[in-house]
Amino acid sequence: MATWKTLLLQDSASPLMEQLSFFHDHTLMILMIITVLVGQLMLTLFFNKFSHRLLLEGQLIEVVWTILPALTLIFIALPSLRLIYIIDEVNNPMITIKSIGHQWYWSYEYSDFKNIEFDSYMIPTNSMNNYNFRLLDVDNRVVLPYESQIRLIVTATDVIHSWTIPALGVKIDATPGRLNQISFSTNRTGLFYGQCSEICGANHSFMPIVIESISPKYFIKWIAKTLES
Ligand code: CUA
Repeated sequence: MATWKTLLLQDSASPLMEQLSFFHDHTLMILMIITVLVGQLMLTLFFNKFSHRLLLEGQLIEVVWTILPALTLIFIALPSLRLIYIIDEVNNPMITIKSIGHQWYWSYEYSDFKNIEFDSYMIPTNSMNNYNFRLLDVDNRVVLPYESQIRLIVTATDVIHSWTIPALGVKIDATPGRLNQISFSTNRTGLFYGQCSEICGANHSFMPIVIESISPKYFIKWIAKTLES
């Protein structure tokens, strides 16, 4: 999750997010090179009192400074497209989970396991324990096995919401009347926090998402325990 001084992306907890971080760094590198180059040119131009009376055009430099930005854009566009298609790939999911956005909470269905279903509400600030994170913790977490391919089906009942977990590189709209699909996995055990990221009404800030990533063995135990109760 994001903590103090997290200025850029969070540490990745999935292979997809790792690739997204690499792409972010790559693009930021290009951006810095352009900023420094253009900044230097503008500064020298600004402090220069001389002008060249006869210089009106230069065919070569104009060709060069047209083609170079086009090449730069291609170097950003190609890795970006590659990532889009990798993210869209659904590789033999082990389980499928359905997430439904409501004003203002999420509900979940584990249709592979006799359709376990539950609501997931944020823990209000006035009933928090000292181990809770304000505006980020929920009463019922999404329990998932780690290093397993998960298929998430997302929809909503009222308005558009967005199911978003930054550390996993997951962000998908929950739209009424539509089923959206995304596939992801987690690298390790732990809690992964996210928030709705589609402006969905007055309590938009109060419908967080928490994934509890545990070993498959304990996941099976959790399923058994939940089915008993
Ligand atoms: Cu749901 Cu914002």
